[in-house]
Amino acid sequence: MKLENQTFIVTGGASGIGLGITRRIISEGGRVVAVDINAEAGERVVEEFGDRARFIQGDVSDTQVATTAVAESVEAFGGLNGLVNNAHASRQKPFLELEESDWSLSFSTGFQATLNFMRAAHDELVKTKGSVVNFGSGAAMGGQLGQASYAAAKEAIRGVSRVIANEWAPEGIRVNIVSPLALTPGVEAWSREHPAQYEETVATIPLARFGDPETDVAPVVTFLLSADAKYMTGQTLMADGGIRKLY
Ligand SMILES: NC(=O)c1ccc[n+]([C@@H]2O[C@H](COP(=O)([O-])OP(=O)(O)OC[C@H]3O[C@@H](n4cnc5c(N)ncnc54)[C@H](O)[C@@H]3O)[C@@H](O)[C@H]2O)c1
Repeated sequence: MKLENQTFIVTGGASGIGLGITRRIISEGGRVVAVDINAEAGERVVEEFGDRARFIQGDVSDTQVATTAVAESVEAFGGLNGLVNNAHASRQKPFLELEESDWSLSFSTGFQATLNFMRAAHDELVKTKGSVVNFGSGAAMGGQLGQASYAAAKEAIRGVSRVIANEWAPEGIRVNIVSPLALTPGVEAWSREHPAQYEETVATIPLARFGDPETDVAPVVTFLLSADAKYMTGQTLMADGGIRKLY
């Protein structure tokens, strides 16, 4: 098992891709502190994984939540080997319709939260020569219509990740990015609201389907968290079925 007795924080770790990552880390022998705003989903995590997981209910944009998650990793499991900044909330609207609150939602839950958790985790990650996985998006790289606030935050995450990868490399901490494509509750809701865009998107995926959070995306994340990726930092891995960027 690749992650035996190692501990990871997974933001948004109670549903969607985050739940797939939580499951995969635990099946690889690891332990998870899942942070999520959704308390019901968090209860299910605790039921499913027992003493292999802890759940922190909170909003990732709150700096105190990041501090609490790191403290819980240390108290419950003795330290922290890695961090997965997966949670990100946003609203899809044409650029001219985006309001200040829309920009703020995407930047506080995506960009700021990623920074908060990296700052809070740094001192523990130094001790373990840990690994960070942040999340990008093909919609951002391709300029998908209606995704201005999301795309800006996602590319800001990638930009800062490459810098921090270089700054933290001498301390032995690796920082990489995964850009996924997976059928999650969030994507299912989006597909119902924007069915034409959903069908257009599927038509541009060479592997002809949306990925599965646990079996298609999470293994790429656990690879980057593990020692198998010990010579990789500052990279973006596309776990997206090879989707062509035709937005
Ligand atoms: N699903 C895809 O195809 C896809 C494509 C590109 C990028 N991504 C990225 O992958 C990551 C996961 O995507 P997903 O589709 O699983 O998302 P999702 O919306 O299905 O799930 C995200 C999880 O984060 C939690 N969450 C949302 N806001 C939060 C907050 N403020 N504080 C704490 N928890 C919060 C939710 O409760 C949920 O459990 C995101 O960064 C997303 O932008 C996903």
